[in-house]
Amino acid sequence: MNAVLDRPPAPVPTAEPAIAVAGLQKAFAKTEVLRGVDLTVQPGEIFALLGANGAGKTTLIRILSTLMRADAGSASVAGHDVASQPGAVRESISLTGQFAAVDEKLTGRENLALVARLRHRPTPNAIADEMLSRFDLVDAGSRAAATYSGGMRRRLDIAMSLIGSPAVIFLDEPTTGLDPEARQEVWATVKHLARGGTTVLLTTQYLEEAEQLADRIAILHRGRILVTGTLAELTALLPAATVEYVEKRPSLEEVFFALTGEEGAGETDAGPASTDKETGR
Ligand SMILES: Nc1ncnc2c1ncn2[C@@H]1O[C@H](COP(=O)(O)OP(=O)(O)O)[C@@H](O)[C@H]1O
Ligand SMILES: [Mg+2]
Repeated sequence: MNAVLDRPPAPVPTAEPAIAVAGLQKAFAKTEVLRGVDLTVQPGEIFALLGANGAGKTTLIRILSTLMRADAGSASVAGHDVASQPGAVRESISLTGQFAAVDEKLTGRENLALVARLRHRPTPNAIADEMLSRFDLVDAGSRAAATYSGGMRRRLDIAMSLIGSPAVIFLDEPTTGLDPEARQEVWATVKHLARGGTTVLLTTQYLEEAEQLADRIAILHRGRILVTGTLAELTALLPAATVEYVEKRPSLEEVFFALTGEEGAGETDAGPASTDKETGR
């Protein structure tokens, strides 16, 4: 069992975690994908769920966004239980997947206005224009989305998902398949979002993405969270002991492979029980 401990109940409602997950389990037939996941995300935090392909990141996001039910355990988002209050959860979140929900035939402005209309916003065109400007897409706003670069499309997708000002945004591998420049654009967008107070739970298989963006990082491996902490806390898990690394701290990559025991790095004796960290943030 992962030992990342939930905090004691918060004394004031505003200190309630944005996302709280305890003992979450999910299996597909005989494949146990999530085997007791625990994590807590604070409001306004950028939290990166890091894991290899097939680790169960999307499964967790699908449960948190009420698209799928867990087999056991509990999860709440923005204070609402995902199993018993799915409607309230859906009103508090947005989900941007690896495969953009953008309609290629529509212009950027039309895509945005369409979402605003679907969400029953009173002034869809004004909202579309505001989003175009916020996401640096004004010049492209009247062009069909089919003509956009990968980074522009992903920015448009994120802008669409933000209409209605959700408290929590799930970004499932937001930069997978993007070139380095487009990835930088998306990172800037995500940082901007979090500065505005939105809680961001993003999944990634890119260590650098977690390093660049996240306030805290959790490593999901074989169905459990191996460790949770800030980048500094995670890199402090490994001693900066070898001669080659005397002048630099271990990278997140080294921590990741040491903990997951994959890609040639041997198992360390720093197992979950001794490495789990809850931060004081
Ligand atoms: N609907 C499903 N039915 C059966 N197996 C699934 C389903 N969804 C995911 N899986 C399996 O669960 C595992 C985790 O998948 P996923 O959550 O998509 O991982 P990740 O997003 O980390 O790459 C994989 O082995 C995948 O094949
Ligand atoms: Mg996935």
